[in-house]
Amino acid sequence: MPELRSLSYLSKATRVLNVKEVHELARAAAETNAKLGITGYLYAHTGHYFQYLEGPAPALNELMASITKDDRHRILHQHDLGKVKARRFEGWSMRYLPASALSKIGLEHLLFELVQDATNVGYSEGWVRDKITAILDKLSQFQTMLNRPENQSGTA
Ligand SMILES: Cc1cc2nc3c(=O)[nH]c(=O)nc-3n(C[C@H](O)[C@H](O)[C@H](O)COP(=O)(O)O)c2cc1C
Repeated sequence: MPELRSLSYLSKATRVLNVKEVHELARAAAETNAKLGITGYLYAHTGHYFQYLEGPAPALNELMASITKDDRHRILHQHDLGKVKARRFEGWSMRYLPASALSKIGLEHLLFELVQDATNVGYSEGWVRDKITAILDKLSQFQTMLNRPENQSGTA
């Protein structure tokens, strides 16, 4: 089995999408990712994106090259999060969660802070990485609950 690697990035949207459009973006992404063996999580708020991706290194690099070229956003910071022994988000080809689900697990403020930190003039890679780890840990911890139908879609 090829080595699994992980990365995340923060980006700024060139046009702010509404919730319906982000759901559609995540749906299309999930369809492609399923074929590539990529799993991950997407956050979109206040004209920014945070995305976590994991999968076989060649597919991951190729996908990240496409995402970087996408003129719907501009990458601000990319983080190589290294090798992964087991996927964090098995079953999430790409998951975008409604705000209601994020607030249930107390993640809304942490994600919002992450975007603030990343856009700050005094950007600190260390702080941002710590926050990313905390966010991913929390999402993994609550994955079963987040998979319930009421937490998957909706308008919020
Ligand atoms: C914030 C954001 C996240 C994206 N995430 C993915 C993704 O996880 N998987 C995917 O296939 N495309 C994703 N896309 C779309 C890609 O950037 C790109 O449009 C798609 O892979 C087709 O690329 P291609 O025209 O080079 O084949 C994302 C786009 C944006 C703006």
